[in-house]
Amino acid sequence: MNPHKNPDSSYIQNMFDRLAGRYDLFNHLTSLGMAGRWRKAALEPVKKGMRVLDLGCGTGDLAILAAAKTGPAGEVTGLDFSSRMLALARKRYEYSRLNGKGGRLHFIQAKAEDLPIGTAPYDLVVSGFVLRNLYENIGRILKGVFESLRPGGEISFLDFTEPDHKAFLFLWRVYLNTVAVFFGKMLFGRDYPAFYLTESARRFLKADELTSKLEAAGFRDIHARSFLLGAIRLYRAVKPPPVIPSLPAGRQAKRGIPREKRL
Ligand SMILES: C[S@@+](CC[C@H](N)C(=O)[O-])C[C@H]1O[C@@H](n2cnc3c(N)ncnc32)[C@H](O)[C@@H]1O
Repeated sequence: MNPHKNPDSSYIQNMFDRLAGRYDLFNHLTSLGMAGRWRKAALEPVKKGMRVLDLGCGTGDLAILAAAKTGPAGEVTGLDFSSRMLALARKRYEYSRLNGKGGRLHFIQAKAEDLPIGTAPYDLVVSGFVLRNLYENIGRILKGVFESLRPGGEISFLDFTEPDHKAFLFLWRVYLNTVAVFFGKMLFGRDYPAFYLTESARRFLKADELTSKLEAAGFRDIHARSFLLGAIRLYRAVKPPPVIPSLPAGRQAKRGIPREKRL
């Protein structure tokens, strides 16, 4: 059996532990330097003083940028199950010179499946390129994310999907199976799981399927923004505040309560 087709959680954890050392360089090369723009878009909702969770923080890219945006009144938690990714994240944080100027940032080794954990409730849960790896337990994880947020809190999730346009989908797969594999083999040698990227994007939920899962978990105001003709998507959604029966309908609408639940 090809383990990339049906990887379990310990296979994925082991894989990221092995790739950690050169993961950032690989990312930079294969995204042709565009990842910075996608991450910036994912962090648009971060405001001063927020409590933010970076789910599957890896080497800490999003978490460190988020802490810079929250300022000293904010707090960011980076969660990942790979100890080697977390060791690099802590090192990068030390060198980032945020100490004092940015929000408090701490990293915890845990499984996304075990949410809610850490200093929940959060104002915002962000994640970059993690969802695909969680596809088997996505319903349970979205429920845990929902429970980790305060009412009115938001999510901002970035990941690969398969482009809708057939010709571009073909070119995208060729790119992942040739250029990405070339960089992967060059940087990681035999440790690089050659077709994991393509396979994980292929088997993961399409944008409308993930939107339905988010809705089923209780999220509202769901938007999927696409980059690179749909090869990358950013999902934003809100945990609605509870419906307060005594509020007039007009005021409930302002609180962002979905139409079908308004009184
Ligand atoms: C592709 S990397 C992305 C890292 C980082 N978010 C970024 O934007 O570069 C995926 C990360 O998710 C972590 N991860 C995957 N499945 C996980 C799980 N079930 N629980 C916790 N972390 C997980 C991996 O260890 C890895 O660091």
